[in-house]
Amino acid sequence: MRSYSYMHLGEDIDRDAHVICRYRVTTDLPIEKAAEALAAEQSTGTWTGISTLDERIFAEYGAKIIGIEGDNVVLAFPEEDFSIEVGGIPQILSVIAGNLFGLESLRGVRLEDVEFPSGIRKKYKGPKFGADGLRKILNRPEKPLVGTIVKPKIGLSPKDTARYVYEAGSGGLTNSKDDETLVDQAFCPIEDRTKAVAESLDRLSEEGHEMVHAVNVSTNGDRIVQLAEDVQSWGARQIMVDVITCGFAAVQALSEDPKIKIPVHVHRTMHGAFTKDPLHGISMLPVTKLVRMCGGDALHIGTLGAGKMAGNVKGDHENLDACLTKDSPYRTVMPVCSGGVYPGMVARMVRTSGFNVQIQAGGGVAGHPGGVRKGAMGMSQAVDAVFEGIDVKVYAETHPELKEALDTWGFK
Ligand code: 3PG
Ligand code: 3PG
Ligand code: MG
Repeated sequence: MRSYSYMHLGEDIDRDAHVICRYRVTTDLPIEKAAEALAAEQSTGTWTGISTLDERIFAEYGAKIIGIEGDNVVLAFPEEDFSIEVGGIPQILSVIAGNLFGLESLRGVRLEDVEFPSGIRKKYKGPKFGADGLRKILNRPEKPLVGTIVKPKIGLSPKDTARYVYEAGSGGLTNSKDDETLVDQAFCPIEDRTKAVAESLDRLSEEGHEMVHAVNVSTNGDRIVQLAEDVQSWGARQIMVDVITCGFAAVQALSEDPKIKIPVHVHRTMHGAFTKDPLHGISMLPVTKLVRMCGGDALHIGTLGAGKMAGNVKGDHENLDACLTKDSPYRTVMPVCSGGVYPGMVARMVRTSGFNVQIQAGGGVAGHPGGVRKGAMGMSQAVDAVFEGIDVKVYAETHPELKEALDTWGFK
């Protein structure tokens, strides 16, 4: 039985006819052997030679090892390996991020990056609104968006949630959202919550302030689109979905549903299970690229080294770039920095992110000694200061809510 070599180092391949993936590999094997095992398992091979694999199948569908540098292996998967119309992102992931994680011969393997050929990219529509669309809805062309997550995560009634949102909007916030663990619990049914929050948002609009609140519709695959349509009919101005627990296909279904005419905010809860280990799993970058393809309008990208989820600063910046790069056929995605944020860290964050970002604070708003409205004012004032190029501490001298926030949590 003949065995084939997946090695194509130094050859010129048509990158636009392949899905190119970079993996970081930890192994006791020579790296070339490990690369062969990866390429074989994810395309035409298996652990032994097989009589059913012939020259033609191998040439047309075999993954090609096109780069080995240190512990990085670059594989090129022929476009024909993918079943785009029917298989979608689930099938793509089973190729580029499937069985390989369990291979006995590898101590660790991490998918670091992926590039798709134009033939695949054009099958996806990207965000319906994106960063610019969100800004238009909020009538906020340039300043960073500034938001909150209703806290506590769980336990508030619809009425209390709506009051929180109103207070947050009155304090100047442009965005708020449900937390990732809230959907339709008995203490806060989604219909009542959505309707109550819609009243708050309408009231704010009448007072001249535009704000959106993302209602979490994360649920089973057979119900999510209907739930989102319902939530929209109850007055929601934005929906939220957890991409890891619901899947990329859920983001795509929501974004492409012709009846849904509000932006999709994408949370990434559970991503730490596979993004945190630098030697094994999947980095956030491929997740970000896939969310943009699937049509997420806003996506949590980390706090660029500032917040409660330690993260990886370089990785967060790569996510930010992947959301905003013009080198993409899709609208830009609003990058969301969330998790342990408070006013005293806004300047540092925005200095590195630029203004096209949504900054969110839950505890950093609700924990303000003066309450939610003053907490919201403190956050908005921090953003205003940075936007206007004024030192946050100097700005605080004339803005007591910001001053109180800095006194409470300090400056980072
Ligand atoms: C949260 O829900 O607390 C945060 O958005 C989590 O932060 P992460 O997206 O960086 O994991
Ligand atoms: C989120 O969902 O992004 C968070 O719950 C952030 O909450 P925090 O600002 O209180 O950490
Ligand atoms: Mg949360």
